[in-house]
Amino acid sequence: MLRQPVSYVLAHGEERVDPSPIHAAMRRRLAGEPLQYIRGKTEFFGHDFYVDDRVLIPRPETEILVETAITKIDRGARVVDIGTGSGCIAVTLALERPDLRVTATDASVAALAVAKKNGVATVVASDVLSAFVRDFDWIVSNPPYIAAADIEQLAPEVRDYEPHKALTPGPLGTEAIQQILDQAGRAHVILEIAFGQQQVVRDLAEAHHFSVDDVRNDLAQIPRVIVLSRHGWK
Ligand SMILES: C[S@@+](CC[C@H](N)C(=O)[O-])C[C@H]1O[C@@H](n2cnc3c(N)ncnc32)[C@H](O)[C@@H]1O
Repeated sequence: MLRQPVSYVLAHGEERVDPSPIHAAMRRRLAGEPLQYIRGKTEFFGHDFYVDDRVLIPRPETEILVETAITKIDRGARVVDIGTGSGCIAVTLALERPDLRVTATDASVAALAVAKKNGVATVVASDVLSAFVRDFDWIVSNPPYIAAADIEQLAPEVRDYEPHKALTPGPLGTEAIQQILDQAGRAHVILEIAFGQQQVVRDLAEAHHFSVDDVRNDLAQIPRVIVLSRHGWK
């Protein structure tokens, strides 16, 4: 709020400050707004990202998706990040793997403005891949995956402040995943999935002629990331 480093504050203990921005921030926090929106930033994979209520606040679990993508995706591949939100996946992948050609998409034009601010080079507004004619080699996505009826049970910080379009794709929770698999073509797919969603995503993959190449757990040993390839296209 002072827009000064801690060393400045320590060296100027006698200085009077205007408390009103601090009071305003405290009021927002007491009303339940996430700290990341109030500060306008969060950390993901060791980098700072600008965030506001146009985008989901990047979660630590999503770093597992990025780690998986960094190790799995082949050199020079064309990659699309579907539902880029803040751009945290696309930006980190581009930084960690400069050989990749990374495109970011989102159905929310407001979210894409945030992704741009965070340094995503190529953003395209699209309902999954419907706006694209070109192919991609790899799809990475942390799609909305919560069943609509479960939104009410979420913590108020999430339910009342984060964009619902980022949280739920519809009644089943798997609608966006289904759309991604419908439109994936020959691309390999790396998805973040919800707690308890592994079997239903395996079934959807099988129905779309994908094989499961890998499943990665989060620190609580919950399956969080699934890697899929179309049968015969390994
Ligand atoms: C769970 S958030 C993920 C945001 C970011 N990638 C992250 O991991 O923090 C899902 C994102 O998908 C976008 N989205 C929802 N439905 C979509 C659709 N049909 N097509 C493209 N993007 C969609 C939302 O606007 C939101 O930004």
